[in-house]
Amino acid sequence: MSARILVVDDDAVACEFLQEALLRDGYHVEAFTSVSEALDRNLNDYDLLMSDIRMPDMDGLEFLKIVQARYPLLPVVLMTAYGSLETTMDALSMGAWDYISKPFSPDDCRALVKKVLELRDLRNNRTVLQPRTEKDDKFVGSSAVMVDFYKQIARVADSPASVLIEGESGTGKELTARSLHSMSSRRSGPFIVVHCGAIPDNLLESELFGYEKGAFTGADQRHTGLIESAEGGTIFLDEISEMSTALQSKLLRFMQNGEIRRIGGHEVRHVAVRVVAASNKKIDDEVRKDRFRLDLLYRFIVRLRVPSLREHKEDIPLLIDSLLARFGYAGVRLSSEAVETLMLYDWPGNVRELENVLQQTLLLSPFSVILQEHLPERFRHPEPSGNAGAKTEMTPLEAAQRDQILRTLIATGWNQTRTAEVLGIDRKTLRLKIRRWDLYKDRPEDDKPESPPGKER
Ligand SMILES: Nc1ncnc2c1ncn2[C@@H]1O[C@H](COP(=O)(O)OP(=O)(O)OP(=O)(O)O)[C@@H](O)[C@H]1O
Ligand SMILES: [Mg+2]
Repeated sequence: MSARILVVDDDAVACEFLQEALLRDGYHVEAFTSVSEALDRNLNDYDLLMSDIRMPDMDGLEFLKIVQARYPLLPVVLMTAYGSLETTMDALSMGAWDYISKPFSPDDCRALVKKVLELRDLRNNRTVLQPRTEKDDKFVGSSAVMVDFYKQIARVADSPASVLIEGESGTGKELTARSLHSMSSRRSGPFIVVHCGAIPDNLLESELFGYEKGAFTGADQRHTGLIESAEGGTIFLDEISEMSTALQSKLLRFMQNGEIRRIGGHEVRHVAVRVVAASNKKIDDEVRKDRFRLDLLYRFIVRLRVPSLREHKEDIPLLIDSLLARFGYAGVRLSSEAVETLMLYDWPGNVRELENVLQQTLLLSPFSVILQEHLPERFRHPEPSGNAGAKTEMTPLEAAQRDQILRTLIATGWNQTRTAEVLGIDRKTLRLKIRRWDLYKDRPEDDKPESPPGKER
């Protein structure tokens, strides 16, 4: 059944224009020129409401509030006049799904309607996000830090040398291991992951090396170990620092000569397998604490450290877009304030934490524009700028930016347009930064504008 759209706009010509545009896509469209007429209907009969924001009998925000209360699941798109960004933002924070600025073309309008209806379907039919596919196993990020890291991966990918990957949790250690494998000539061979931390030690030994029938009670048939199964490919020993030092020495023997012997067996076999291991603990610390064998550490010819997300925050916007697309929400976008908020955060859980934040937000807020207040609680009330807490959290780069902006504002007589031009940033970004860092508090009293800064007029 085609979607039913209700249009409310006091301008009859606008109603007709919309009706015509949307009918072409086969939607069922009804239009009213007053809010009261619309409110007389049962809006459960519609899939989407498109409303003007300024109408004589009731303003669009008031209308939105009533619709939200009575029909909380009905997606609402507001049609806003050019330059009313502030009202638009209010509407979005009140729960409008999206907005379109007047004047708009029939194509823009059709594209938006299509997107919102798709999102509505997603939300109605899907409580889990799209499963991962193989093409998701790619690094995203174009920062200098990441480009340098890709180069390191590329340089060692095709060598048989064993690699130890270190990095905080959620940084992409497994992704790195997979990249090493898929960029090597072993890519058609197996890639076997062993979660060393999750398997008890004696079991881990028999899993890795295999056993002969009768090797121990319960070994009623021969079992090929994971190392052997990875022949011709890569074995990825995740959380290697969790392995006992006794097992570490058995692994060392294999890494020295590439030979293994199944438990309870006599035959020594040579296995051509590349060893890649990962640890989110710092291995040097583990060595110092006698929890990791130094001789085993030396068997790892290459050591790679995956950068933490806070070292390449400039990749966050790109990561957000790519993750949204990965989850099947390519039509969703984050407001620039929401993105900035995410960029100010420290990300102790790195990309995995960013993934979780976006998943949580998508499942709880089905809107196509995500605002700061839709983000999980810890992002909703960032430290008000200007107080000591916020200042100590400012990175040196941010502090330098703040100074530069403040100096330029003073030099241009607090002219935002000029300042944005001089600094080569857009005005919106400038306004966000002014608000975030509360820069107007540094302006002499008699200079202060009548209206608060940072609001679009
Ligand atoms: N640079 C990146 N670009 C895109 N996705 C990334 C990036 N880094 C990590 N990811 C994604 O983040 C998630 C965590 O990555 P991965 O499992 O490789 O991290 P990890 O370091 O092994 O984490 P843990 O320490 O928790 O085991 C994965 O879904 C991965 O695809
Ligand atoms: Mg991992």
